[in-house]
Amino acid sequence: MNMLEIIRKKRDGLKLTEEELKYVVEGYVKGEIPDYQMSAFLMAVFFKHLDEDETYTLTEIMARSGDYLDLSDIPGKKVDKHSTGGVGDKTTLVVGPMVAALGLNFAKLSGRALGHSGGTIDKLESIPGFRTSLDREEFVEGVKKVGVVISGQTGNIAPADKKIYALRDVTATVDEISLIASSIMSKKLAIGSDAMVIDVKVGSGAFMKNMEDARKLANLLVKIGKMHGRKTVALLTDMDQPLGRMVGNALEVLEAVETLQGHGPEDFETLCVEIAANMLVLGEVYSKLERARMEARKVLKDGRALEKFKQMVEYQSGNPRVVDDPENVLTFASNIVDVRAQDEGFVHHINAEKVGMAVVMLGGGRTKKDERIDHSVGVEILKKRGDKVKKGDVIARIYASDFQKIQKARELVEEAYHFTSTEPAKVPIIHGVIA
Ligand code: URA
Repeated sequence: MNMLEIIRKKRDGLKLTEEELKYVVEGYVKGEIPDYQMSAFLMAVFFKHLDEDETYTLTEIMARSGDYLDLSDIPGKKVDKHSTGGVGDKTTLVVGPMVAALGLNFAKLSGRALGHSGGTIDKLESIPGFRTSLDREEFVEGVKKVGVVISGQTGNIAPADKKIYALRDVTATVDEISLIASSIMSKKLAIGSDAMVIDVKVGSGAFMKNMEDARKLANLLVKIGKMHGRKTVALLTDMDQPLGRMVGNALEVLEAVETLQGHGPEDFETLCVEIAANMLVLGEVYSKLERARMEARKVLKDGRALEKFKQMVEYQSGNPRVVDDPENVLTFASNIVDVRAQDEGFVHHINAEKVGMAVVMLGGGRTKKDERIDHSVGVEILKKRGDKVKKGDVIARIYASDFQKIQKARELVEEAYHFTSTEPAKVPIIHGVIA
């Protein structure tokens, strides 16, 4: 078999066999296939796609490329969650402690920033001391002890996805349904959880820009999960403006802590409650969604979820004072600049991808594999969809370390905002559920 032939075959839209997909994945993981050929292959897949059979096969090959993380010695139900990636999406930081406070085990392996969308591991690393690479024993012990642990993808869980994901990030081949589905599900299947909730984002800040693609992806994810005996639910959720108010690593941790303190932004809190409630039903803590939602809201308001977050931070060697005094424990960039409305009217939508790109530009994300990021930078969104503004009102705030980058970031944020003279219709944060 040879890589050139396989690239050509996919470039011409032909179906690949299991042996061919195995050759590509295994060869790339072993370093026998160079980045330039793998990049060409990924671009061919981007344009010609993988069909359902090819996607299942690729998922299996990637899931089996490393170890299986057996969680069976953790008593009780283990329910996982995943987001297809968005802007301002700090949901895992809140949902994990919420469900752990209600008796589920949340054993989560998370990723780093990808393109314009942030990554949970980068966010957590803005907490001083927080360790994101735990070995298996520490990971499992933490879940047994605290109920919630969030660690980086270890070297041995779906290493094929880890390597391919990093290459996709820098070759503009992320937003392809079969690649996203196989990437997500290979990691999920390599971890022994009982069930999972997948948050499929749709809109300008998501990899899926329209509802049709988002539904396709959600159906595929649920199908793959079920084929492997995992109870899987996908939520289709709005990403046509950043989630919550904060975008950027330390800023998002601040907002997550505020939400766990019971005063988070409404859209973000609603999403956290919905995801947590679905996890609680899949994990059989409650039989009805309505009751699960009620209990999920309660743990946000009475401090139990915040206490779980604190225990997790402590277990992972982070500074637990982040829970009581996040403003002083976290570091925020010192150049803070207002962005003002260029028009008057109602905010109609905010292109979340542009806001995400502004944060990448400020140094809060990556444009090259393994680039270091600046956790302190970001954008605070002060006016959201439906808000009325006058020309000159402050609509957003930029946090920059490098003064030179402010102008470009400001332009991106200004371009992200779209105004209309009439009040736009309300858009719900949850568009649908696929179960
Ligand atoms: N999240 C993943 O885990 N993989 C993708 O490809 C996109 C989002």
